[in-house]
Amino acid sequence: MGSRRPSRRAERRRKAEGADVQENWEILIPAERIAASVRELGERLSEIYRGRRPVVIPLLRGGFMFAADLVRAMSTDLQIEFLGAASYGEQTTTSGEVRLTLDTTLPLAGRDVLLVEDIVDTGLTLAYIQQLIASRKPASLRTVALLDKKARRIVEASVDHAVFQVPDRFVFGYGLDSPGGFGRNLPDVVAMRPDPETESTGGR
Ligand code: PRP
Repeated sequence: MGSRRPSRRAERRRKAEGADVQENWEILIPAERIAASVRELGERLSEIYRGRRPVVIPLLRGGFMFAADLVRAMSTDLQIEFLGAASYGEQTTTSGEVRLTLDTTLPLAGRDVLLVEDIVDTGLTLAYIQQLIASRKPASLRTVALLDKKARRIVEASVDHAVFQVPDRFVFGYGLDSPGGFGRNLPDVVAMRPDPETESTGGR
């Protein structure tokens, strides 16, 4: 009995699950460009926080890689705390619901807080987290985001420094996960290629 080609439906399902995701993406921002821009931002932030001791808060999970590189590019004394938030589950578009998955342990009152986000898409996560931090009365709150996808914003969320503007395509790598939940360890930011049938690459 000869082997059968998978049906188009099965093929689509496999793609949606991210099974053959490598065939479907292309590099959007190469690692070298990310490294240079993150270093530059680290130097700017070192100037801004000179003589102060900010609390840097990577937003997990996606922000871990950007934050790790950013703090190593900063020469100021700083502390690290973590916040975890999730809005998507395993889907490719936002559920519209933000959940806090991890909270900070240090008091933030009177501190200079630097929030480090991987991507701002609808703005729902950032708006929620900024409100949470503001309620703890920090001396200042500054937000940096590696990627800013302005086209999909539905709520106002202020980003002080966005490293790269990205088009409305599903992006992952360098900390961000693919539709199947993988890809965070890719050194580049990559983007899904348009689906030949629907032309869609939407979602984060
Ligand atoms: C992603 C990303 C941002 C958020 C942006 O997180 O890391 O935090 O979505 O989307 P928004 O602007 O539409 O709210 P996700 O919920 O996928 O969790 P993760 O960081 O653990 O991957």
